[in-house]
Amino acid sequence: MYLIKSINELAPKIWQIWVNAPHVAFHAKAGQFVILRINEFGERIPLTISAIEGDDIRCIFMAVGKTTSALAAHRSGDYIRDVAGPLGKPSEIKKYGTCVVIGGGAGIACCPIIARSLKADGNVVKGIIGARNAELLILEDEMRDSCDELFITTDDGSKGVHGFVSDILKTEIQKGSIDAVWIIGPAIMMKVTSEVTRPVKIRTFVSLNPIMVDGTGMCGSCRVKIGDQIQFACVDGPEFDAHKVDFDLLMKRQRAYLQEEKLALEYHNKEQCKCGGPNNE
Ligand SMILES: Cc1cc2nc3c(=O)[nH]c(=O)nc-3n(C[C@H](O)[C@H](O)[C@H](O)COP(=O)(O)OP(=O)(O)OC[C@H]3O[C@@H](n4cnc5c(N)ncnc54)[C@H](O)[C@@H]3O)c2cc1C
Ligand code: FES
Repeated sequence: MYLIKSINELAPKIWQIWVNAPHVAFHAKAGQFVILRINEFGERIPLTISAIEGDDIRCIFMAVGKTTSALAAHRSGDYIRDVAGPLGKPSEIKKYGTCVVIGGGAGIACCPIIARSLKADGNVVKGIIGARNAELLILEDEMRDSCDELFITTDDGSKGVHGFVSDILKTEIQKGSIDAVWIIGPAIMMKVTSEVTRPVKIRTFVSLNPIMVDGTGMCGSCRVKIGDQIQFACVDGPEFDAHKVDFDLLMKRQRAYLQEEKLALEYHNKEQCKCGGPNNE
């Protein structure tokens, strides 16, 4: 059982949870994730390790469906049944020169730990974070502390530059040399933004979020196409060379169970289902 040290809403439907998980905290590195199960009836969901402090790890999640909604209904002092991890390969942190770390929406959760690790290895780090509007922008202060320079964009112009993270990336590439880029966010945002670095051949990493079940390379549900190879995001990733990813296949596979997910959420909201927590009504 894993104690929830604290849980709070950072922005509408975006929750921050600190969980006491000493073995995960001890081994975890930037870019890795955990798979958690709220209780014995719960499904397994992967969440990125967003920060580590002592024996505790932080995850930041968007309440989009049944399990994330059930998790958001937990309170400090509650327990989670399983936290398996750290899983996946860590980010490829080394000295590149100048790096840009880009986060979109809940994907910003993964950025400070990567930015800090890159800085610790002697890189100059620029951060670009974007959200639909100012209210949905998370971790601004943490990113400001973790980067040498931070840029903010919102789709509606309510904060920072009116536009997309890709617009700022284009300008920064024109201004000077950039050696490596990380892009983390919704698949469509990673697809579009990585097209900016393709023609100028900048090393670009994306963190893929296909549906995962076991997280150990056994079930095949997380398979993604990287160049001409099929890989398993849980053990071969989740970070991959952006310019080799088949994003269209990723997005198609992410939508495979939309109908079932909708029904599960409806059931969760109507009944006291056994997914592992009070429902939100
Ligand atoms: C390596 C990895 C790291 C992730 N890190 C984060 C994170 O830090 N913060 C965050 O908000 N989300 C993260 N996700 C996505 C998160 O796992 C899903 O939002 C969550 O599983 C949704 O579960 P649900 O029951 O609430 O929603 P559902 O209604 O079941 O699903 C909503 C959508 O979430 C996705 N999803 C559903 N089940 C899974 C699953 N088992 N594995 C992966 N995706 C699924 C699907 O695209 C689905 O359409 C990550 C996914 C992966 C693969
Ligand atoms: S989640 Fe089963 S193989 Fe990756």
